[in-house]
Amino acid sequence: MQSSDSVVGVGRPPEPIRSPEGQLSPFGWYAEMREERPVHYDEQRETWDVFRYDDVNRVLKDHVSFTAKRSAEDGEPSSGADEGMPMLQTMITTDPPEHTRLRGFVDERFQPGSIREYRPQVERVTEAVLDDLEGRGQFDFVDEVAISLPVTVIAELLGIPAERRDQFKAWSDALVARPEDDSQEERQRVQDARQQAQREMGRYFGSLLQEREGGTADDLITLAANSALNRGEQIGFCMLLLLAGNITTTNLLTNAIWTFEEEGLTDAVRQGAVDLEAAIEETLRYRSPIQSLKRIALEDVELRGRQIQAGDVLTVWLGAANRDPARFDAPEEFRPERQPNRHIAFGTGVHFCLGAHLARMEAAVALNGFLERFDRLDADLWNCQPLNGLYGLESLPCDVSETGG
Ligand code: HEM
Repeated sequence: MQSSDSVVGVGRPPEPIRSPEGQLSPFGWYAEMREERPVHYDEQRETWDVFRYDDVNRVLKDHVSFTAKRSAEDGEPSSGADEGMPMLQTMITTDPPEHTRLRGFVDERFQPGSIREYRPQVERVTEAVLDDLEGRGQFDFVDEVAISLPVTVIAELLGIPAERRDQFKAWSDALVARPEDDSQEERQRVQDARQQAQREMGRYFGSLLQEREGGTADDLITLAANSALNRGEQIGFCMLLLLAGNITTTNLLTNAIWTFEEEGLTDAVRQGAVDLEAAIEETLRYRSPIQSLKRIALEDVELRGRQIQAGDVLTVWLGAANRDPARFDAPEEFRPERQPNRHIAFGTGVHFCLGAHLARMEAAVALNGFLERFDRLDADLWNCQPLNGLYGLESLPCDVSETGG
Protein backbone atom coordinates (compact mmCIF):
# COMPACT_ATOMS: atom_id res chain seq x y z
CA MET A 1 0.00 0.00 0.00
CA GLN A 2 1.20 3.48 -0.76
CA SER A 3 1.96 5.80 2.05
CA SER A 4 0.88 9.39 1.89
CA ASP A 5 3.35 12.24 2.16
CA SER A 6 0.79 14.94 2.26
CA VAL A 7 0.64 17.32 5.17
CA VAL A 8 -2.81 18.75 4.82
CA GLY A 9 -4.50 15.76 3.33
CA VAL A 10 -4.00 12.55 1.53
CA GLY A 11 -1.80 12.03 -1.48
CA ARG A 12 0.30 14.76 -3.04
CA PRO A 13 -0.60 18.22 -1.76
CA PRO A 14 -1.83 20.62 -4.45
CA GLU A 15 0.88 22.74 -6.03
CA PRO A 16 -0.04 26.09 -4.35
CA ILE A 17 0.42 24.63 -0.86
CA ARG A 18 3.26 22.20 -1.42
CA SER A 19 5.96 24.26 0.34
CA PRO A 20 6.37 24.09 4.14
CA GLU A 21 4.91 27.63 4.40
CA GLY A 22 1.97 26.60 2.23
CA GLN A 23 1.42 23.54 4.36
CA LEU A 24 1.31 25.63 7.53
CA SER A 25 -0.80 28.31 5.98
CA PRO A 26 -3.04 26.99 3.22
CA PHE A 27 -5.80 29.41 4.24
CA GLY A 28 -5.21 32.14 1.61
CA TRP A 29 -5.40 29.50 -1.11
CA TYR A 30 -8.56 28.07 0.42
CA ALA A 31 -10.18 31.52 0.41
CA GLU A 32 -9.33 32.06 -3.24
CA MET A 33 -10.60 28.66 -4.27
CA ARG A 34 -13.77 28.87 -2.18
CA GLU A 35 -14.57 32.13 -3.93
CA GLU A 36 -13.41 31.45 -7.48
CA ARG A 37 -13.35 27.71 -8.05
CA PRO A 38 -15.34 26.07 -5.25
CA VAL A 39 -15.51 22.72 -7.08
CA HIS A 40 -12.37 22.38 -9.14
CA TYR A 41 -10.75 19.53 -11.05
CA ASP A 42 -6.97 19.30 -10.51
CA GLU A 43 -5.55 17.55 -13.59
CA GLN A 44 -2.20 16.90 -11.94
CA ARG A 45 -3.57 15.09 -8.89
CA GLU A 46 -6.58 13.74 -10.81
CA THR A 47 -9.03 14.77 -8.13
CA TRP A 48 -11.93 17.14 -7.65
CA ASP A 49 -11.19 19.65 -4.88
CA VAL A 50 -14.25 20.78 -2.92
CA PHE A 51 -13.94 23.86 -0.70
CA ARG A 52 -17.29 25.26 0.50
CA TYR A 53 -18.87 24.14 3.75
CA ASP A 54 -22.22 23.19 2.20
CA ASP A 55 -20.58 21.11 -0.53
CA VAL A 56 -18.14 19.34 1.81
CA ASN A 57 -21.03 18.60 4.14
CA ARG A 58 -23.14 17.24 1.30
CA VAL A 59 -20.43 14.92 -0.03
CA LEU A 60 -19.67 13.50 3.42
CA LYS A 61 -23.34 12.97 4.29
CA ASP A 62 -24.18 11.27 0.99
CA HIS A 63 -22.62 7.85 1.32
CA VAL A 64 -24.84 6.51 -1.43
CA SER A 65 -23.24 8.72 -4.10
CA PHE A 66 -19.77 8.99 -2.53
CA THR A 67 -17.96 5.99 -1.10
CA ALA A 68 -15.28 5.95 1.60
CA LYS A 69 -13.82 2.76 0.16
CA ARG A 70 -10.34 3.01 -1.24
CA SER A 71 -9.97 2.80 -4.96
CA ALA A 72 -8.73 -0.60 -6.04
CA GLU A 73 -5.84 0.89 -8.01
CA ASP A 74 -4.19 3.26 -5.61
CA GLY A 75 -4.90 1.52 -2.30
CA GLU A 76 -4.56 4.93 -0.66
CA PRO A 77 -6.30 5.69 2.58
CA SER A 78 -9.52 7.62 2.30
CA SER A 79 -8.51 10.11 4.93
CA GLY A 80 -5.56 11.23 6.95
CA ALA A 81 -7.27 9.49 9.84
CA ASP A 82 -6.49 6.03 8.51
CA GLU A 83 -3.09 6.74 7.08
CA GLY A 84 -0.76 3.78 7.45
CA MET A 85 -3.61 1.28 7.72
CA PRO A 86 -2.83 -2.12 6.36
CA MET A 87 -5.52 -3.37 4.00
CA LEU A 88 -7.73 -4.73 6.75
CA GLN A 89 -11.45 -4.32 6.65
CA THR A 90 -12.41 -1.52 9.04
CA MET A 91 -15.25 0.92 9.51
CA ILE A 92 -13.36 3.88 8.07
CA THR A 93 -13.11 2.43 4.57
CA THR A 94 -16.51 0.76 4.31
CA ASP A 95 -20.03 2.00 3.56
CA PRO A 96 -23.30 0.97 5.21
CA PRO A 97 -24.50 -1.70 5.82
CA GLU A 98 -20.96 -3.12 6.23
CA HIS A 99 -19.89 0.03 8.06
CA THR A 100 -22.77 -0.28 10.53
CA ARG A 101 -21.74 -3.82 11.39
CA LEU A 102 -18.09 -2.85 11.93
CA ARG A 103 -18.89 0.21 14.07
CA GLY A 104 -22.07 -0.84 15.86
CA PHE A 105 -20.44 -3.04 18.51
CA VAL A 106 -18.30 -0.22 19.87
CA ASP A 107 -20.34 2.96 19.33
CA GLU A 108 -21.78 2.95 22.84
CA ARG A 109 -18.30 2.91 24.42
CA PHE A 110 -17.42 6.23 22.79
CA GLN A 111 -20.61 8.09 23.73
CA PRO A 112 -20.21 11.01 26.16
CA GLY A 113 -21.54 8.98 29.14
CA SER A 114 -18.93 6.24 28.73
CA ILE A 115 -16.19 8.72 27.96
CA ARG A 116 -16.85 10.51 31.26
CA GLU A 117 -15.97 7.28 33.05
CA TYR A 118 -12.53 7.28 31.43
CA ARG A 119 -11.73 10.73 32.76
CA PRO A 120 -9.93 9.64 35.95
CA GLN A 121 -7.71 7.36 33.83
CA VAL A 122 -6.84 10.23 31.50
CA GLU A 123 -6.13 12.47 34.50
CA ARG A 124 -3.74 9.87 35.88
CA VAL A 125 -1.93 9.50 32.57
CA THR A 126 -1.65 13.29 32.25
CA GLU A 127 -0.20 13.63 35.75
CA ALA A 128 2.41 10.96 34.99
CA VAL A 129 3.42 12.65 31.73
CA LEU A 130 3.69 16.03 33.50
CA ASP A 131 5.60 14.55 36.46
CA ASP A 132 8.26 13.43 34.01
CA LEU A 133 8.73 17.06 33.00
CA GLU A 134 9.34 18.32 36.52
CA GLY A 135 12.66 20.09 36.79
CA ARG A 136 13.05 20.36 33.03
CA GLY A 137 13.06 24.06 32.18
CA GLN A 138 12.91 23.44 28.47
CA PHE A 139 11.37 20.68 26.44
CA ASP A 140 9.59 20.00 23.21
CA PHE A 141 5.85 20.01 23.80
CA VAL A 142 5.24 17.78 20.76
CA ASP A 143 7.62 15.00 21.81
CA GLU A 144 7.12 15.14 25.55
CA VAL A 145 3.41 15.80 25.89
CA ALA A 146 1.44 15.73 22.67
CA ILE A 147 2.81 12.43 21.36
CA SER A 148 3.11 10.56 24.67
CA LEU A 149 -0.31 11.25 26.03
CA PRO A 150 -2.71 9.92 23.36
CA VAL A 151 -0.76 6.69 22.84
CA THR A 152 -0.78 5.95 26.57
CA VAL A 153 -4.51 6.70 26.81
CA ILE A 154 -5.32 4.34 23.93
CA ALA A 155 -3.08 1.66 25.43
CA GLU A 156 -5.05 1.92 28.69
CA LEU A 157 -8.43 1.77 26.98
CA LEU A 158 -7.40 -1.23 24.91
CA GLY A 159 -6.02 -2.89 28.03
CA ILE A 160 -2.41 -3.32 26.93
CA PRO A 161 -0.52 -4.82 29.90
CA ALA A 162 1.83 -2.32 31.57
CA GLU A 163 4.95 -4.36 30.79
CA ARG A 164 4.28 -4.13 27.06
CA ARG A 165 3.70 -0.37 27.00
CA ASP A 166 7.18 0.53 25.79
CA GLN A 167 6.97 -1.94 22.96
CA PHE A 168 3.52 -0.65 22.15
CA LYS A 169 4.79 2.94 22.02
CA ALA A 170 7.65 1.89 19.71
CA TRP A 171 5.20 0.22 17.32
CA SER A 172 2.90 3.25 17.37
CA ASP A 173 5.82 5.54 16.62
CA ALA A 174 6.90 3.36 13.69
CA LEU A 175 3.38 3.43 12.25
CA VAL A 176 3.40 7.22 11.98
CA ALA A 177 7.14 7.79 11.42
CA ARG A 178 8.13 10.03 8.53
CA PRO A 179 11.24 9.93 6.36
CA GLU A 180 13.88 12.31 7.68
CA ASP A 181 14.94 13.24 4.18
CA ASP A 182 13.67 12.75 0.67
CA SER A 183 16.10 9.99 -0.35
CA GLN A 184 14.85 6.69 -1.70
CA GLU A 185 16.76 4.75 1.01
CA GLU A 186 15.24 6.77 3.83
CA ARG A 187 11.75 6.35 2.44
CA GLN A 188 12.31 2.64 2.08
CA ARG A 189 13.67 2.37 5.62
CA VAL A 190 10.61 4.09 7.09
CA GLN A 191 8.26 2.02 4.96
CA ASP A 192 9.93 -1.26 5.97
CA ALA A 193 9.88 -0.29 9.66
CA ARG A 194 6.19 0.58 9.37
CA GLN A 195 5.31 -2.70 7.73
CA GLN A 196 7.26 -4.64 10.30
CA ALA A 197 5.51 -2.77 13.13
CA GLN A 198 2.16 -3.51 11.50
CA ARG A 199 2.92 -7.21 11.26
CA GLU A 200 4.21 -7.47 14.81
CA MET A 201 1.38 -5.46 16.21
CA GLY A 202 -1.18 -7.44 14.23
CA ARG A 203 0.22 -10.67 15.68
CA TYR A 204 0.27 -9.19 19.17
CA PHE A 205 -3.34 -8.00 18.96
CA GLY A 206 -4.29 -11.40 17.54
CA SER A 207 -2.89 -13.21 20.57
CA LEU A 208 -4.47 -10.79 23.07
CA LEU A 209 -7.83 -11.12 21.32
CA GLN A 210 -7.62 -14.88 21.53
CA GLU A 211 -6.69 -14.83 25.22
CA ARG A 212 -9.55 -12.49 26.10
CA GLU A 213 -12.33 -14.20 24.18
CA GLY A 214 -15.10 -15.08 26.65
CA GLY A 215 -13.57 -12.76 29.26
CA THR A 216 -15.51 -10.15 31.21
CA ALA A 217 -13.00 -7.32 31.61
CA ASP A 218 -14.21 -4.00 30.27
CA ASP A 219 -11.25 -3.10 28.05
CA LEU A 220 -11.77 -2.60 24.31
CA ILE A 221 -9.78 -5.68 23.29
CA THR A 222 -12.15 -7.88 25.34
CA LEU A 223 -15.12 -6.04 23.81
CA ALA A 224 -13.78 -6.71 20.30
CA ALA A 225 -12.88 -10.33 21.14
CA ASN A 226 -16.48 -10.98 22.21
CA SER A 227 -18.04 -9.19 19.23
CA ALA A 228 -19.41 -10.86 16.09
CA LEU A 229 -16.49 -9.51 14.02
CA ASN A 230 -14.06 -12.05 12.60
CA ARG A 231 -10.51 -12.05 13.92
CA GLY A 232 -9.07 -10.04 11.03
CA GLU A 233 -11.74 -7.38 11.53
CA GLN A 234 -11.06 -7.31 15.28
CA ILE A 235 -7.35 -6.76 14.64
CA GLY A 236 -8.22 -4.06 12.10
CA PHE A 237 -10.38 -2.32 14.70
CA CYS A 238 -7.57 -2.27 17.29
CA MET A 239 -5.09 -0.89 14.79
CA LEU A 240 -7.53 1.69 13.50
CA LEU A 241 -7.95 3.15 16.98
CA LEU A 242 -4.23 3.74 17.17
CA LEU A 243 -3.86 5.17 13.73
CA ALA A 244 -6.94 7.35 13.76
CA GLY A 245 -6.65 8.50 17.34
CA ASN A 246 -3.03 9.22 18.09
CA ILE A 247 -1.52 11.67 15.69
CA THR A 248 -4.80 13.57 15.34
CA THR A 249 -4.96 14.17 19.09
CA THR A 250 -1.24 15.00 19.13
CA ASN A 251 -1.95 17.72 16.60
CA LEU A 252 -4.96 19.05 18.47
CA LEU A 253 -2.87 19.48 21.63
CA THR A 254 -0.02 21.11 19.74
CA ASN A 255 -2.27 23.34 17.65
CA ALA A 256 -4.03 24.53 20.81
CA ILE A 257 -0.82 25.62 22.58
CA TRP A 258 0.54 27.09 19.33
CA THR A 259 -2.62 29.13 18.81
CA PHE A 260 -3.04 30.23 22.46
CA GLU A 261 0.55 31.46 22.41
CA GLU A 262 0.23 33.15 19.04
CA GLU A 263 -2.97 34.90 20.09
CA GLY A 264 -1.58 35.89 23.50
CA LEU A 265 -4.39 33.94 25.20
CA THR A 266 -2.43 31.42 27.27
CA ASP A 267 -2.83 33.28 30.56
CA ALA A 268 -6.49 34.01 29.92
CA VAL A 269 -7.14 30.32 29.31
CA ARG A 270 -5.15 29.32 32.40
CA GLN A 271 -7.10 31.74 34.57
CA GLY A 272 -10.45 30.72 33.13
CA ALA A 273 -11.18 34.11 31.54
CA VAL A 274 -11.36 32.19 28.28
CA ASP A 275 -13.26 28.92 28.50
CA LEU A 276 -10.87 26.05 27.75
CA GLU A 277 -13.45 23.78 26.14
CA ALA A 278 -14.63 26.56 23.85
CA ALA A 279 -11.01 27.36 22.98
CA ILE A 280 -10.47 23.69 22.06
CA GLU A 281 -13.51 23.76 19.74
CA GLU A 282 -12.21 26.92 18.12
CA THR A 283 -8.77 25.32 17.68
CA LEU A 284 -10.44 22.39 15.95
CA ARG A 285 -12.13 24.82 13.56
CA TYR A 286 -9.23 27.21 13.08
CA ARG A 287 -6.44 24.65 12.81
CA SER A 288 -8.16 21.37 11.97
CA PRO A 289 -5.79 18.41 12.50
CA ILE A 290 -7.22 16.71 9.41
CA GLN A 291 -7.52 19.24 6.62
CA SER A 292 -8.94 16.98 3.94
CA LEU A 293 -10.72 13.69 3.32
CA LYS A 294 -11.12 11.61 0.24
CA ARG A 295 -14.18 10.06 -1.38
CA ILE A 296 -14.93 8.36 -4.68
CA ALA A 297 -18.13 9.04 -6.66
CA LEU A 298 -20.27 5.95 -7.17
CA GLU A 299 -22.56 7.61 -9.70
CA ASP A 300 -22.67 10.70 -11.88
CA VAL A 301 -23.45 13.72 -9.71
CA GLU A 302 -23.73 17.43 -10.36
CA LEU A 303 -22.04 19.57 -7.75
CA ARG A 304 -22.26 23.34 -8.03
CA GLY A 305 -22.78 23.06 -11.78
CA ARG A 306 -19.80 20.73 -12.32
CA GLN A 307 -20.37 17.26 -13.67
CA ILE A 308 -18.70 14.63 -11.49
CA GLN A 309 -18.62 11.15 -12.98
CA ALA A 310 -18.85 7.73 -11.38
CA GLY A 311 -15.32 6.67 -10.41
CA ASP A 312 -14.00 10.23 -9.98
CA VAL A 313 -11.97 10.98 -6.86
CA LEU A 314 -12.92 13.91 -4.62
CA THR A 315 -10.81 15.68 -2.01
CA VAL A 316 -13.07 17.54 0.39
CA TRP A 317 -11.29 20.28 2.32
CA LEU A 318 -12.45 20.33 5.94
CA GLY A 319 -9.95 23.11 6.63
CA ALA A 320 -11.52 25.30 3.93
CA ALA A 321 -15.08 24.47 4.97
CA ASN A 322 -14.21 25.43 8.54
CA ARG A 323 -13.28 28.92 7.37
CA ASP A 324 -16.17 29.46 4.99
CA PRO A 325 -17.58 32.98 5.52
CA ALA A 326 -20.99 31.72 4.44
CA ARG A 327 -20.96 29.64 7.62
CA PHE A 328 -18.78 31.50 10.15
CA ASP A 329 -18.50 35.21 10.99
CA ALA A 330 -14.93 36.49 10.69
CA PRO A 331 -13.70 32.97 9.88
CA GLU A 332 -10.03 33.96 9.68
CA GLU A 333 -10.10 35.12 13.32
CA PHE A 334 -9.56 32.86 16.32
CA ARG A 335 -12.61 33.57 18.48
CA PRO A 336 -13.08 31.11 21.34
CA GLU A 337 -16.34 32.82 22.26
CA ARG A 338 -17.87 31.78 18.92
CA GLN A 339 -21.38 30.35 19.47
CA PRO A 340 -22.47 28.10 17.92
CA ASN A 341 -19.28 26.63 16.52
CA ARG A 342 -20.45 23.96 14.10
CA HIS A 343 -17.11 23.07 12.58
CA ILE A 344 -16.61 19.77 10.76
CA ALA A 345 -13.12 18.97 11.99
CA PHE A 346 -14.40 15.53 13.04
CA GLY A 347 -16.10 14.94 9.69
CA THR A 348 -19.83 14.32 9.43
CA GLY A 349 -22.29 11.65 8.31
CA VAL A 350 -21.84 7.99 9.11
CA HIS A 351 -18.06 8.29 9.48
CA PHE A 352 -18.27 11.11 12.05
CA CYS A 353 -15.21 10.54 14.24
CA LEU A 354 -15.76 7.70 16.69
CA GLY A 355 -13.24 9.27 19.07
CA ALA A 356 -14.52 12.87 19.00
CA HIS A 357 -15.74 12.92 22.61
CA LEU A 358 -12.61 11.15 23.81
CA ALA A 359 -10.36 13.59 21.94
CA ARG A 360 -12.20 16.57 23.42
CA MET A 361 -12.01 15.19 26.93
CA GLU A 362 -8.34 14.26 26.54
CA ALA A 363 -7.51 17.72 25.25
CA ALA A 364 -9.38 19.41 28.10
CA VAL A 365 -7.69 17.29 30.78
CA ALA A 366 -4.21 17.53 29.23
CA LEU A 367 -4.24 21.25 28.49
CA ASN A 368 -5.76 22.11 31.84
CA GLY A 369 -3.16 19.98 33.63
CA PHE A 370 -0.31 21.41 31.59
CA LEU A 371 -1.29 25.06 32.07
CA GLU A 372 -1.93 24.56 35.78
CA ARG A 373 1.42 22.89 36.30
CA PHE A 374 3.45 25.49 34.43
CA ASP A 375 2.30 28.95 35.30
CA ARG A 376 4.70 30.64 32.94
CA LEU A 377 5.02 29.31 29.46
CA ASP A 378 7.12 30.66 26.66
CA ALA A 379 6.73 28.76 23.41
CA ASP A 380 9.13 29.35 20.55
CA LEU A 381 7.02 30.07 17.47
CA TRP A 382 9.88 31.37 15.36
CA ASN A 383 10.76 28.26 13.51
CA CYS A 384 7.52 26.39 13.02
CA GLN A 385 7.90 23.41 10.71
CA PRO A 386 4.89 21.48 9.57
CA LEU A 387 4.53 17.99 10.92
CA ASN A 388 4.62 15.80 7.90
CA GLY A 389 1.37 13.88 7.86
CA LEU A 390 -1.58 15.87 9.09
CA TYR A 391 -1.91 19.52 10.14
CA GLY A 392 0.33 20.31 13.07
CA LEU A 393 3.90 21.12 14.04
CA GLU A 394 7.04 19.03 13.97
CA SER A 395 8.14 20.54 17.26
CA LEU A 396 7.07 23.24 19.71
CA PRO A 397 9.96 24.18 21.99
CA CYS A 398 8.71 25.37 25.37
CA ASP A 399 10.49 27.21 28.14
CA VAL A 400 8.81 26.96 31.55
CA SER A 401 11.92 27.77 33.59
CA GLU A 402 10.41 30.75 35.37
CA THR A 403 7.39 28.78 36.38
CA GLY A 404 6.46 28.42 40.01
CA GLY A 405 4.96 24.98 39.46
C1 HEM B 1 -12.92 9.17 11.91
C2 HEM B 1 -10.86 13.41 12.98
C3 HEM B 1 -9.45 11.64 17.30
C4 HEM B 1 -11.09 7.30 16.01
C5 HEM B 1 -12.51 10.48 11.85
C6 HEM B 1 -12.82 11.39 10.77
C7 HEM B 1 -12.23 12.57 11.07
C8 HEM B 1 -11.56 12.42 12.34
C9 HEM B 1 -12.26 13.84 10.22
C10 HEM B 1 -13.70 11.09 9.55
C11 HEM B 1 -12.97 10.27 8.50
C12 HEM B 1 -13.78 10.08 7.24
O1 HEM B 1 -14.92 10.54 7.15
O2 HEM B 1 -13.23 9.49 6.28
C13 HEM B 1 -10.29 13.28 14.23
C14 HEM B 1 -9.63 14.36 14.94
C15 HEM B 1 -9.24 13.86 16.16
C16 HEM B 1 -9.65 12.48 16.22
C17 HEM B 1 -9.47 15.78 14.40
C18 HEM B 1 -8.53 14.53 17.31
C19 HEM B 1 -8.53 15.80 17.52
C20 HEM B 1 -9.80 10.33 17.35
C21 HEM B 1 -9.60 9.44 18.47
C22 HEM B 1 -10.04 8.21 18.08
C23 HEM B 1 -10.54 8.33 16.74
C24 HEM B 1 -8.99 9.84 19.81
C25 HEM B 1 -10.09 6.89 18.82
C26 HEM B 1 -9.76 6.62 19.97
C27 HEM B 1 -11.71 7.45 14.79
C28 HEM B 1 -12.33 6.34 14.07
C29 HEM B 1 -12.86 6.88 12.90
C30 HEM B 1 -12.55 8.30 12.91
C31 HEM B 1 -12.38 4.89 14.53
C32 HEM B 1 -13.64 6.14 11.82
C33 HEM B 1 -15.13 6.31 12.07
C34 HEM B 1 -15.98 5.69 10.99
O3 HEM B 1 -15.48 5.42 9.89
O4 HEM B 1 -17.17 5.45 11.26
N1 HEM B 1 -11.76 11.12 12.81
N2 HEM B 1 -10.27 12.17 15.02
N3 HEM B 1 -10.40 9.63 16.32
N4 HEM B 1 -11.86 8.61 14.05
FE1 HEM B 1 -11.17 10.41 14.60
